[in-house]
Amino acid sequence: MTKTSIQLKLNGMQRRVDVEPNDVLIDVLRDKLGVKSPKVGCDRGDCGTCTVFLNGRTVRSCLVLAIEADGCEIVTLEGISKDGPTKLQKSFVDHSSFQCGFCAPGMVLAATELLQNNPHPQREEIQEAIAGNLCRCTGYSPIIEAIEDACKK
Ligand code: FES
Ligand code: FES
Repeated sequence: MTKTSIQLKLNGMQRRVDVEPNDVLIDVLRDKLGVKSPKVGCDRGDCGTCTVFLNGRTVRSCLVLAIEADGCEIVTLEGISKDGPTKLQKSFVDHSSFQCGFCAPGMVLAATELLQNNPHPQREEIQEAIAGNLCRCTGYSPIIEAIEDACKK
């Protein structure tokens, strides 16, 4: 298959990478660009573990062709915490919000987007914001409580 060179601004750095027409963004980020926080869970848009910011909005990177991201800005968990853990991340730690941690990168980005758009969400708004991010370990309560607490600080 013919490869195409695409350019991304990834976590603040300009990166160029060759991709095939059917490469999905999650695979290019993990396998070609060395960004490991987005995870492959379901690989079909259901679980949210592959969440990244694309031009300021969260997307499921398993559903985005890499070639569609040419010229775009991508921010992953590595990008939002490059100056140290955010207030939200500290709150997740304080609440022991994760067990295996597989869902954590996507959950943190979904919650980050929520608080950017709505700094003081109601509990129902938090539940709605993370509804597309599945967690198999925690029952969600420590995640929701951490987000609520981060809003108070
Ligand atoms: S791996 Fe993308 S939504 Fe599950
Ligand atoms: S902590 Fe294991 S899936 Fe969420």
